[in-house]
Amino acid sequence: MELKRFLPLIFALYIFLAVALVLLFTRKTTEIHIQSIKRDHFTNFSQISTNESGNAALSFEDIKFATLFDDIALKDLSDVQLAVIYNQTLLESYFDDQATFYILHDAFQGTNYLSLAKDPVCVALTLSPDQIPQIANYLQTWPGSVSVAVFVSSLDFYYAIILINLLRECNKDVLKQVTWHLVLPRNFTPPTSKLGILRTELDCSVDMHESYNVLSKLFNKDKEKSPLPLPINTMRNVASRHCRNEWVIAPEVDLRFPSDKSIYPKLVSFFNATNAFQCVKCAFLPATYDILNNVIPKNKKQLVELVLNGTARVYHEKKSSFRNYTGNLSFWEALPHNDDVVVTSKINLKFPDQPIYITRHGMPKFDERYLGHSWTRSVQALEMQLKEYRFFLLDTIFLVHVNGTKINHANTQVNKQILTHHLRELSLRYDEYLEDLIELYPFDSPRLVDIVQSPHELERKTNRNSLQVKIKKAD
Ligand SMILES: *[C@@H]1O[C@H](CO)[C@@H](O)[C@H](O)[C@H]1NC(C)=O
Ligand SMILES: *[C@@H]1O[C@H](CO)[C@@H](O)[C@H](O)[C@H]1NC(C)=O
Ligand SMILES: *[C@@H]1O[C@H](CO)[C@@H](O)[C@H](O)[C@H]1NC(C)=O
Ligand SMILES: *[C@@H]1O[C@H](CO)[C@@H](O)[C@H](O)[C@H]1NC(C)=O
Ligand SMILES: *[C@@H]1O[C@H](CO)[C@@H](O)[C@H](O)[C@H]1NC(C)=O
Ligand SMILES: *[C@@H]1O[C@H](CO)[C@@H](O)[C@H](O)[C@H]1NC(C)=O
Ligand SMILES: *[C@@H]1O[C@H](CO)[C@@H](O)[C@H](O)[C@H]1NC(C)=O
Ligand SMILES: *[C@@H]1O[C@H](CO)[C@@H](O)[C@H](O)[C@H]1NC(C)=O
Repeated sequence: MELKRFLPLIFALYIFLAVALVLLFTRKTTEIHIQSIKRDHFTNFSQISTNESGNAALSFEDIKFATLFDDIALKDLSDVQLAVIYNQTLLESYFDDQATFYILHDAFQGTNYLSLAKDPVCVALTLSPDQIPQIANYLQTWPGSVSVAVFVSSLDFYYAIILINLLRECNKDVLKQVTWHLVLPRNFTPPTSKLGILRTELDCSVDMHESYNVLSKLFNKDKEKSPLPLPINTMRNVASRHCRNEWVIAPEVDLRFPSDKSIYPKLVSFFNATNAFQCVKCAFLPATYDILNNVIPKNKKQLVELVLNGTARVYHEKKSSFRNYTGNLSFWEALPHNDDVVVTSKINLKFPDQPIYITRHGMPKFDERYLGHSWTRSVQALEMQLKEYRFFLLDTIFLVHVNGTKINHANTQVNKQILTHHLRELSLRYDEYLEDLIELYPFDSPRLVDIVQSPHELERKTNRNSLQVKIKKAD
């Protein structure tokens, strides 16, 4: 009797399981199907009929999978449809570590990204919106893949979309090589009432600089902008993480490779060679120079000429607060000519050096608590050292600092406070004493000294010393 009552239920459960199994196995193909629908819908909007008021006769079903970055003719959409797409676009984002920013990754994908991903190295760049046009210059000396994170707050979000679309339309290299990601502060999203800005039409027949000038005025004018300093570490992580290549370098946009593009295949060969290929915890540093005349040297020979007549010097050599990480490069300049990209020497870094290196995915992340520029590179390099990475200087390839944009060191004090906590965390995680870190890396922070000399830290040190004595005795 009891069993009979449950028979329909068991039967229903059985059917349900069968359906679930079928769904599970067909899920993959369904997704691919959806993807292709999405693309089919939006490849050619001029084919879609418009009604009398000039609005596209699109149903909400039609725009269900659209994002603001699809190749859609925005002018054909009604305000409400745009707002729906805007909401969907944000839903497809993820948060940074502190959930302060929406990360809209792969918003615009380089059309050659798949073939370029077969090359070993990708450049991960971080840009403020007014720096977007510099990407065209950047590609004059770098033929490989580029992954760019752009910080956009409030209306900059719309302007950046217009500008990126324009660049992609007008510059084939940008279209092919560059994949764009947007970093949008949660508290400074653009007003949806102004979504109509996206209908702004600019085209390549109009002077690109003219269009940019119009837009850049808008970028600078917008006083509603986020007062946050640039989340440079979040941006570096986003740009690096979405690089599809095995190795990544995260320089500033004003650090350029030599202009002779035949060096690129040499770099590829270097990373294809077994030695570099097999090294998991290696970081390779291009020598880095400041140049004063803004003409990018073609090769090392030209760079050395510039050094000799005083128009180039080691990066940061004259800047007070940061040590030269590569120190005295006289030996590098004097090396006999090399045709290929090779390793010249191992480098010992010292905190707070700010090296720029090519390294594999899996390197320590840039810590996203820091905003603005100060300490951001040095502390990541320190963690690389604590993780026992090795650093090597490369020959033949190098970076030069052009049109030096002034780095804004705002937020230095806040970052210093974060640093004191961060060093303590690192000390615990890697079982190094803060005091040793400080001895190794002289650092004048009274707060840090307080922490180092706190009873807890002293006790930790005493315990470890006695443990070491015991281990020694046991040996
Ligand atoms: C889109 O469709 C229009 C009208 O059918 C046609 O003239 C145009 O060439 C198409 N554009 C593309 C990119 O296929
Ligand atoms: C035209 O399309 C828009 C959006 O789909 C709709 O709101 C509007 O009522 C339509 N106008 C006419 C005259 O059908
Ligand atoms: C978009 O999302 C906001 C907040 O979640 C909501 O208020 C608004 O109605 C949504 N707009 C549309 C068109 O779905
Ligand atoms: C590097 O290796 C990739 C993949 O193994 C290969 O496709 C490419 O031709 C190699 N390039 C060079 C310059 O050796
Ligand atoms: C330095 O050398 C470069 C390359 O030879 C040359 O173009 C430049 O004019 C020289 N500058 C000075 C100040 O001599
Ligand atoms: C950088 O290195 C050069 C050469 O070793 C040295 O003369 C200079 O003082 C260093 N600069 C700083 C800021 O340490
Ligand atoms: C750099 O090192 C070389 C020897 O390796 C030395 O002759 C030269 O004076 C050094 N330069 C500076 C600026 O310290
Ligand atoms: C430096 O800036 C000037 C003016 O904006 C530009 O013409 C030049 O191409 C830039 N130089 C490089 C190497 O990007």
